[in-house]
Amino acid sequence: MRWPAAFLLLRLAITCIILHGFDVSVSEFQPAVGCPESCFCSEMVNGGLVVSCSNMHLITVPRGFPNTTQHLYLDNNLLVTVPSDSFIGLTMLCGLDLSHNRLTHLEPGAFRGLADSLISLDLSSNQLETLDPEGLGDIRAHTNLSHNPWQCDCRLQLAMPQLLLDPSSLAEVVCNSSEPEELRAQGLPFILVATDVDFCGAYRKTTDVVMLITMFVWFTMVISYLVCYVKHNQEEASRHLEYLKSLPKIQGR
Ligand SMILES: *[C@@H]1O[C@H](CO)[C@@H](O)[C@H](O)[C@H]1NC(C)=O
Ligand SMILES: *[C@@H]1O[C@H](CO)[C@@H](O)[C@H](O)[C@H]1NC(C)=O
Repeated sequence: MRWPAAFLLLRLAITCIILHGFDVSVSEFQPAVGCPESCFCSEMVNGGLVVSCSNMHLITVPRGFPNTTQHLYLDNNLLVTVPSDSFIGLTMLCGLDLSHNRLTHLEPGAFRGLADSLISLDLSSNQLETLDPEGLGDIRAHTNLSHNPWQCDCRLQLAMPQLLLDPSSLAEVVCNSSEPEELRAQGLPFILVATDVDFCGAYRKTTDVVMLITMFVWFTMVISYLVCYVKHNQEEASRHLEYLKSLPKIQGR
């Protein structure tokens, strides 16, 4: 009675080992068709791929995503930057999730090659302080920019007009701090504040003051040099005069 059951178990175990071995050999010999390590790939009905690398403790963006990837999840990892050309060749990519990472910056050309396909980009819950037009390039996707410690300053004000992002994205850029601080933009959406505050005007004022102080210091130095020079010459001249005055007396004797 027990024999058939034990036999079945043994057969299952052997099948499992054989299949597992087979699987390994496939991914070893044909790495091009495989998914990047630490990601899961699943095919959609239209033939596109959903690639999920969420919650993998990734510290760098993996390379070699299949070129049929349509949705890519890199959320909840430990990424601090997105290097240039990270997603090059992914001409079908329409959704990219980079939320809940530690992104502090995007390198120039980070999203190169995605301008025509990308519809949605999630950069929420990261450590971004400013938007770099070079990093975002020419992507027009709707972008979730919420939950980042945005620093509202001249740099951000200059960057805004250069961005092609879907305009609704920018409403979520809420100031965490402002420079200059007295503008008190904290807690307010940047686009609201930026309409009537010139962050760069204050910056220009400070540089003007610095210029003025520098010029004043130079001017003082030049004047004091001149005064010293004149004083020194006066002493020299009077000494010379004394000497000349004493001459006839010497001759007289
Ligand atoms: C993906 O790459 C393969 C082989 O390199 C190529 O034949 C195919 O056209 C590419 N597909 C896309 C959508 O770029
Ligand atoms: C943007 O991201 C935040 C935090 O990750 C999330 O709560 C919010 O629902 C997202 N907004 C949209 C429009 O997806």
